[in-house]
Amino acid sequence: MLSDRDYRAVFEASPDAMLIVDSGGVIRDLNPQALSMFGWSREEMEGSRVDRLVPAASRSRHKRHRRRYAEAPRARPMGQGLELQAVRKDGTTFPVEISLSPGKLASGLEHVICTIRDITSWKRMRWLSRMKLKAAENERRHLSRELHDEFLQFLVAFKLRGKLLVDEADRKERERAWAVIADEILGAIQGVKQMIRGLGSPKLERQGLVSALATLFRDTRKVHGVKIRASVNLDWVADELDPVAVLALYRIVQAAVTNAATHAGVSEAAVIVRSEDGVIVAEIRDQGCGFELTDPGTARDEGHAGLAGMRERAELAGGSLTVRTSPGKGTTVRATVPMVSPGREP
Ligand SMILES: Nc1ncnc2c1ncn2[C@@H]1O[C@H](COP(=O)(O)OP(=O)(O)OP(=O)(O)O)[C@@H](O)[C@H]1O
Ligand SMILES: [Mg+2]
Repeated sequence: MLSDRDYRAVFEASPDAMLIVDSGGVIRDLNPQALSMFGWSREEMEGSRVDRLVPAASRSRHKRHRRRYAEAPRARPMGQGLELQAVRKDGTTFPVEISLSPGKLASGLEHVICTIRDITSWKRMRWLSRMKLKAAENERRHLSRELHDEFLQFLVAFKLRGKLLVDEADRKERERAWAVIADEILGAIQGVKQMIRGLGSPKLERQGLVSALATLFRDTRKVHGVKIRASVNLDWVADELDPVAVLALYRIVQAAVTNAATHAGVSEAAVIVRSEDGVIVAEIRDQGCGFELTDPGTARDEGHAGLAGMRERAELAGGSLTVRTSPGKGTTVRATVPMVSPGREP
């Protein structure tokens, strides 16, 4: 049989911080772990209200919960589903997990034993593993967008040019057309290599945004026979742009122009890119057939990844994307991207 002193020793040796609180919310006893967790001395803690360990903002809620608990006390974790915080003597707060068990002391005093665990490092671990999952997910999506924007677009153009090549009767013209295709294949091979190394668009890196856009518009005319009326005013800011913003803008314009050229049934479309109060605005407009907007997630599952990818790119760069369209009314895609992405170190 353990003596009272033995029980005291167990209480003191518990690895968790423990408080004995009476039904009026007054701390009657506590172990050394509780003292070091909160930074108060035993004299300061004993006889004081337990509310002082709760951050000021949650005190009234805590009082309500404590009263309700006193009406029907039972052993249970506290604040299920809530993120509980406690406050130290120096005013700093930390996340905690608290278990409550009611009882009666030999003296007849109704009390609750509160076992408190500081879960700061557990939360950090959970945060880290979530960040890891998120990073893996972002990477996977980045690769799928790159595949879509770099190679799917290339294959679409390749198919069209291949058809033109087959139909070309003149041998000289055929050889010339083949030379262009061979050049593009070489570009695509370099692109794959660069992508494997985890870099962005090779064309973009070689030429810079303004010139890569000009090439894109020229190619759109050559491949799809659709003229792009472009107004790109970035001369003052092109050098200051964050690479994340540049890649996002280029890919968005590329995918939207390809959409206008392949779906809208138009012979021309307009692109405006300009800087405005620290953000770059890109607008891609056509007067074509328009379409019914559907949920981007569903569209992606059905093999239409362009619009969903454009939105993701804008958002990853800290910006946003809107699409205005309806059947017969043409389509306007508008992306805004901050010149410096939010994730960049200052
Ligand atoms: N400018 C446009 N004019 C008319 N319809 C459009 C336009 N842009 C998109 N659409 C319609 O919206 C659909 C979804 O476009 P989205 O770019 O997401 O996918 P996709 O072009 O079909 O395939 P991909 O994944 O190769 O881009 C298109 O299939 C088309 O029906
Ligand atoms: Mg598309």
